[in-house]
Amino acid sequence: MHSFLLAFSLKCFIPFDMMKIIEKAKKEHSLSRDELIYLLKDNTCDEYLFNAADEVRQKFVGDEIHLRALIEFSNICKNNCCYCGLRRDNKNIERYRIDEDTIFKLAEHAVKNLGLKTVVLQSGEDMFFTTDKLCRIIRKIKTLDTALTLSIGEKTLEEYKAYHQAGADRFLLRIETTNRELYEKYDPGMSWENRAECLKNIGISGLEIGSGCLVGLPGQTIESYADDILFFKQIKADMIGIGPFIPHKDTPLKDAKGGTLQTALKVMALTRLLLPDINIPATTAMETLEPNGQTKALQSGANVIMPNVTLTQYRKHYELYPGKSSTNYSPDDSLREVREKIASLGRTIGKGYGSHQK
Ligand code: 5AD
Ligand code: SF4
Repeated sequence: MHSFLLAFSLKCFIPFDMMKIIEKAKKEHSLSRDELIYLLKDNTCDEYLFNAADEVRQKFVGDEIHLRALIEFSNICKNNCCYCGLRRDNKNIERYRIDEDTIFKLAEHAVKNLGLKTVVLQSGEDMFFTTDKLCRIIRKIKTLDTALTLSIGEKTLEEYKAYHQAGADRFLLRIETTNRELYEKYDPGMSWENRAECLKNIGISGLEIGSGCLVGLPGQTIESYADDILFFKQIKADMIGIGPFIPHKDTPLKDAKGGTLQTALKVMALTRLLLPDINIPATTAMETLEPNGQTKALQSGANVIMPNVTLTQYRKHYELYPGKSSTNYSPDDSLREVREKIASLGRTIGKGYGSHQK
């Protein structure tokens, strides 16, 4: 094995010790902080790393790509995150809420007509949707043959428990960054400790834990990405979404440089090596940065896509970042495009609910 590695390394000018670290991660699914930093800092082994993540993905979660029907049901948010177009101080967007019946109809269309097996309800932190209202929506959607994920922000343990009891299966809450100072600078009024506590409570409530981070916020470092990856392992995440930060003109970070697809893919590939059996989406932000972004992600460790099934009339208003991919698409268009992408990769669409198989 070692002589083979040495030959490959010499042929491709990849430092031998880097290859050894990647090979170790492929077998043991653990790396030290220093090893992560070493791999993140140097780009000579990126293709080798992406291939390794692809192999681990294939071995642990197979060739199926699980589809999640994303419904962005409200763009109203009480928070003021400096990177996000939905922040409460942004007066340049038209705010909307989709009513309960329409949310259900969108879910029903996704499940019955489009054949999707998970519905994701996502919104800003909109206090209009009380626990009672949400539980009513959850119970109704769960009469359909579908798994249900919520992505609605920071809640109490009691609320997470109520959603789970109403039938919700999973919850997404990105930690955004493990750098506490940076988090509290860019998410004014919010506490990193509370966010970490929420992730713990999501697990206690019985919901699958989904988290993730941004890549490319001003001040984020290679070291902090290494910490992010170790954090995902520490919280025993069931799913991790990683997205490059894309500056939005109506936010305080409008002049920032933004993240690159390459770094986001590296953080994602390393996450796959260390958490081999979790669900990892090829994120829309990756596709927004590069037309081939999602395809590259699916070849570098990702096994999930979240086609947007929100009504076309609302989609342009859910502008977390500019140019958010395919905002003029209908639910059926989104799915058609995703199916084509999957077929062109020779992969198949997941037949089950695509829950985390530990
Ligand atoms: N660029 C990329 N991703 C963003 N998000 C919010 N704003 C941006 C942006 N400008 C992400 C955050 C949040 C998720 C719903 O969208 O990570 O958790
Ligand atoms: Fe609100 Fe989420 Fe945007 Fe922050 S990232 S402003 S919580 S929608």
